[in-house]
Amino acid sequence: MITTEPGGVPVTPPQQPAQPSAVRRRGAVVAAGLPLAVVGLLATAAGPAAASTVGSAGVGDPYFPLAGNGGYHVHHYDLTLGYDPKTRHLDGRAVITASATQRLTRFNLDLKGLKVTSITVGHAKATFRRAGQELEVTPKQPLRKDQEFRTTVTYSGTPGPVTDPDGSLDGWIPTDDGAFVAGEPQGAMTWFPANNHPKDKSAYDFTITVPQGRTAVANGVFRGQKTAKGRTTFRWHQPEPMAAYLATATVGNFKVEQYTAPGGLKVYNAVDPREAAAAAPVLKQLPSVLEWESELFGPYPFKAAGAIVDRAPNVGYALETQSRPVYDRAPDLSTLVHESAHQWFGDSVSITTWKDIWLNEGFATYAEWLYEEQHGGKSAQQTFDALYASPADSELWAFPPADPGSGAHIFEEPVYARGAMALHKLRQAVGDRTFFRILRAWATVNREGHGTTAQFIRLSERQSGMDLDELFHTWIFTAGKPAQP
Ligand code: ARG
Ligand code: ZN
Repeated sequence: MITTEPGGVPVTPPQQPAQPSAVRRRGAVVAAGLPLAVVGLLATAAGPAAASTVGSAGVGDPYFPLAGNGGYHVHHYDLTLGYDPKTRHLDGRAVITASATQRLTRFNLDLKGLKVTSITVGHAKATFRRAGQELEVTPKQPLRKDQEFRTTVTYSGTPGPVTDPDGSLDGWIPTDDGAFVAGEPQGAMTWFPANNHPKDKSAYDFTITVPQGRTAVANGVFRGQKTAKGRTTFRWHQPEPMAAYLATATVGNFKVEQYTAPGGLKVYNAVDPREAAAAAPVLKQLPSVLEWESELFGPYPFKAAGAIVDRAPNVGYALETQSRPVYDRAPDLSTLVHESAHQWFGDSVSITTWKDIWLNEGFATYAEWLYEEQHGGKSAQQTFDALYASPADSELWAFPPADPGSGAHIFEEPVYARGAMALHKLRQAVGDRTFFRILRAWATVNREGHGTTAQFIRLSERQSGMDLDELFHTWIFTAGKPAQP
């Protein structure tokens, strides 16, 4: 069932600064080319080791060469955290269950900052060495190919965010009452040791202890809370596979609302009281938005849902943290629609390289256009036409959506808005019936998995029976404003 608010049309709350609807982040952008060049060198140095029994220092992502690690696949992270917002001290223990995909005398995890106090692999103490974001672990006994093994890392310290190539912050971002925790693309490693690349997806359990009165919110199903000696422990279970960047453990002063939506979906919302009045009318729409998206994209992919509405003025964006997006302020309805659409496109179906980010952002942006179109607002065609009118030298045409060029550009307008324009062109070419069948097939075939740009093109051609090479060539691979709308 689709419900709309009384007016039918989503309205933007007046306190939201005007922004291109296509780009969700609002932070200041500072280019920082140097770190990329430096990590590039490090990755090259680690290269030859990949052929040996040493797991590689990265999974080979051209934009983030040290992101993730080779030689194993993580099945499960069991994270036990204690955080004190006053001192900003974090105590952590990560139990990581993984399988070796090759013989391993040594393997890496990604961890930036913090102090590691001990590591065991199986029952034996392992030795380790830190080198930038690489945590190199040498187990006492080499691991056989296909061996399942359990690594326990004990660590502590004062976590802080990383600065991304575009100048934005991500990771563990302290707030005045806790921490806003969002890891796209890099920041998961600021608060737990991880195979930090969307290629590797895992189940998670979280046990997070904070001072009584604060709430710690993670992904998936709420498993209960217990207070003792002035501290409260929250437990969370994320059963479906999740990329590390989509994990959260956001801490703050939150008003909590829990209910079961029609269909049995477990909803848990945590809202900063200072944002509550502005957030309430939008959060009320969450079940109907998810229902509407389920009709378009196929069944909602997770057991749990919800929202974390924080007040984090230095963040400037929301993130589609799995099952429960995290918002830096009360979201408007189109932002809620956007982060909800990511649950299908980005979270359930994940990218294998950051270069393919348009598969997340272009799709979530197009979901906003569709929502408007089907709820009494502008048609997607009108949104497309207005964008197409942008002059050839505008930001929108700076690079093609499927080739941002570097990690500095993955959250820019060509990825979001032009990515959505490409989907609109596809819809025009194949017709509505086939287009919506393609979107649904994409979410269904790759559910709880991955998809690449090449696979999306192939699927579109198979579903439509058309040769779509030229369309995709023009709209996602070629720089500059296309000659024809
Ligand atoms: N995926 C988020 C969104 O759509 C944007 C995350 C931006 N992250 C960043 N570090 N700038 O809406
Ligand atoms: Zn997005």
